[in-house]
Amino acid sequence: MTDLLIHNLSEVATARGSDSLRGAEQSRVERLTGAVVLCRDGKIAFVGSPEELDRRGGLLPEAERLDGRGGTLVPGFVDPHTHLPWAGDRAEEFAQRLAGKSYLEIAAAGGGILSTVRATRQASEEQLGESVRHRLDQMLALGTTTAEAKSGYGLTLDDELKQLRAIRSAAADHPVDLVPTLLAAHEIPPEHRDTRQRYVDLVCDEIVPAAAEAGLARFCDVFCERGVFSPEESRRVLLAGKEHGLRPRLHADEFVDSGGAELAAELGALSADHLVAASERGIEAMAATGVTAVLLPGTSFFLMKHTWAPARRLVEAGVPVALATDCNPGSSHTESMPMVFVLAVYELGLSIEEALVAVTLNAACCLGLGEEVGTIEEGKRADLVLLSEPSLFHLAYHFGGNPVAAVVKDGRLTAPRR
Ligand code: NIG
Ligand code: FE
Repeated sequence: MTDLLIHNLSEVATARGSDSLRGAEQSRVERLTGAVVLCRDGKIAFVGSPEELDRRGGLLPEAERLDGRGGTLVPGFVDPHTHLPWAGDRAEEFAQRLAGKSYLEIAAAGGGILSTVRATRQASEEQLGESVRHRLDQMLALGTTTAEAKSGYGLTLDDELKQLRAIRSAAADHPVDLVPTLLAAHEIPPEHRDTRQRYVDLVCDEIVPAAAEAGLARFCDVFCERGVFSPEESRRVLLAGKEHGLRPRLHADEFVDSGGAELAAELGALSADHLVAASERGIEAMAATGVTAVLLPGTSFFLMKHTWAPARRLVEAGVPVALATDCNPGSSHTESMPMVFVLAVYELGLSIEEALVAVTLNAACCLGLGEEVGTIEEGKRADLVLLSEPSLFHLAYHFGGNPVAAVVKDGRLTAPRR
């Protein structure tokens, strides 16, 4: 593989290390000027001044070059919470929401997640794989190089595994790396409305073991929320996952405080996601046990809630904060980490440095990938985003367009240069 030298950069902005950053450390970002970055064999081989690279004799004459044209280089974005394999859309429901109905009202009437379940059950594995590839194309063009992807719109053994296989097949021939999560406990399916306990049994006794045995999932997730899965049911599902080697993460306290943050701490989950309504006790428990908060401001925006996750409180409490799109058809229809970045700065009150750590290192760490990606350092995977503008600040200062000029994945230029 030919070396790639990225030069003529105004700035290289990155966190350091392989562990998540929390509290005051979450804003620890280095901003190097005049640096070049050399990629070799898919990894980052050098970050520093061109003179130092010369001294080390590190540059081979046949190296390819990527002219940064005075832009900013940041680590590839890591999106640690998406629901990528789905069929159909919910544009009609969106119109109902605009007319005044709430997300939970629509869900209670059999719409919401269940309407996507109906469409997804009808879709073939190939169709789902195609929909994932299409979404990955957009994510890559917007700078995402690694993402988590959940099932959760099948809610039967076969349909959950079909979604997970669609994730695997899409990832196999796409540059974006995907980490799969089983979310069979996303909703009670209609056929189990009156026998919910039997569905929880099915998830614990059949779906979790089958997904784990087939190597189709790395994590187990549950929608722990009033009216969906109780903390007791969620605990059962996540413990079943743990027993089969699937590490826990959960949708917690999105609409009301349901004890999700506390449960995440109790189970040593990698993350608790949403947390708009998390309690102070839950936040303290997360801080004490090192659970990452994955905040999804796209949902507050898309659901027009005007209430936002307590990001500042989480940082102050010492909880590592990450950010994700929650890309799904019902509560956050976006593939864009730059959009999430803007919302985090404008609405969650994160600083630009904190937000950068949240979309790179902390996101990587909560997927168990902190050693491999998330920073621009020698030895890490060469997953890099070239932003067209001259400093990190432009990532929030200039909003609404695509800030990405080029994406390097595994040391190769992938998304076409704009
Ligand atoms: O993360 N909260 C539950 N799951 C998704 C919504 C999925 C949907 O509405 O289809 C979420 O917001
Ligand atoms: Fe979600």
